[in-house]
Amino acid sequence: MSRNPKQSALQPESIAAVRARRAHSVKWQRYPLDVVPAWVADMDFPPPAQALESGIELLRNGDTGYPSSDLGSSYEAAYQHWCKESFGTQPHPLKTVADVVAALRIVVLAVTDPGAGVIVLTPSYPPFFNVVKDAQRELMEVPMSQVDQQYRVDLERLATAAADPRAQAIILCNPQNPTGRIFTKSELADIATIADREHLTVIADEIHQDLLSHGSTHVPFASLENESATRAIVLSSPSKSFNIAGLKVAHIELPSDRAQRARLEASPLLALSQATPIGLAVGAEAYETQRSWLDEVRHLIDDNFTIMEKSYASNELVSFTHREGTYLLWGELHRLPEGQSAYQFLLDRGRLGVGAGEDYLPGAPEFFRLNLAAWPSTITAIMERINDALGTL
Ligand SMILES: Cc1ncc(COP(=O)(O)O)c(C=O)c1O
Repeated sequence: MSRNPKQSALQPESIAAVRARRAHSVKWQRYPLDVVPAWVADMDFPPPAQALESGIELLRNGDTGYPSSDLGSSYEAAYQHWCKESFGTQPHPLKTVADVVAALRIVVLAVTDPGAGVIVLTPSYPPFFNVVKDAQRELMEVPMSQVDQQYRVDLERLATAAADPRAQAIILCNPQNPTGRIFTKSELADIATIADREHLTVIADEIHQDLLSHGSTHVPFASLENESATRAIVLSSPSKSFNIAGLKVAHIELPSDRAQRARLEASPLLALSQATPIGLAVGAEAYETQRSWLDEVRHLIDDNFTIMEKSYASNELVSFTHREGTYLLWGELHRLPEGQSAYQFLLDRGRLGVGAGEDYLPGAPEFFRLNLAAWPSTITAIMERINDALGTL
């Protein structure tokens, strides 16, 4: 689909303009002015204005006290419709919460026993490691394997870990952060078969479900026809899709399996993580009306990945995995000064702020993660800085 920039709701901004507008953003405020930040997962594009207006209306009216249940109901109805249109699925009833990481913490505590093993596929979004450790569960890391510039679940390793009598759950991230993989229906079915066999709970973080490259499809884990799908607990949020992480809105899809649902609903911690009224209002409006905004954003992101992939296709010093979903790019430097990490090298020699590989894959300092949800001129700057750094080798 070709885009007409005149009709676009998204007007490109310079790096300086984004930095000035994002005066309270951790992404933009962590580094000195001469560093281009390409790390934490939020987008440089402003959220859809019409959706923000729903939150502004609450603020304008001073309607900022304890919310009635109608905001949660509207959010749930909008999300049901969104999923039907996006994936042809009908999600189970939702419990709204403040954010996905808080939800993950609540779910791990509710559905596993103290000391139980929780499997995390690596490389992984770093808070998964902390959630498991903080809950005093045993972290069972299962490395994925790399095939043709893509990561795949190593089913043999997963089966071995799952067969460990301590294992009770697997945290699955799909689309996957940081590798950009979208697991196929058949890969998900293989994971589900292992979970069925070993009676593991699958906790599926699907927060990146809407950020798909054009031509890719996402299969919600709970839509599979396996027994583990009925016990799976799916977490998601409009926060990545519409760039509203600071508004604190997310949800847990309650599983259809009654015993599992009862275990989760019995958690006293659920009461401690509440979505904000503004987050619910903006999220509902976004799900209801902002599909074309998201589509435009996905085109911008796809273009950014195409440029990066083409530019570094035959570079001997750096390589990237092929991304299907998310706006994150997982890279590896093939030559580094003695004792340096890719993170430090790109910061010192390129003045580029990336995610440090070791946070996602312990013991792998040669890796790094880039955030490509940025305007084309920022992508050009990111590439120039990578090239500057590589030029010093
Ligand atoms: C896979 C994944 N889960 C959760 C989060 C954080 O979500 P929240 O801000 O709702 O806790 C992120 C943020 O990047 C993420 O990539």
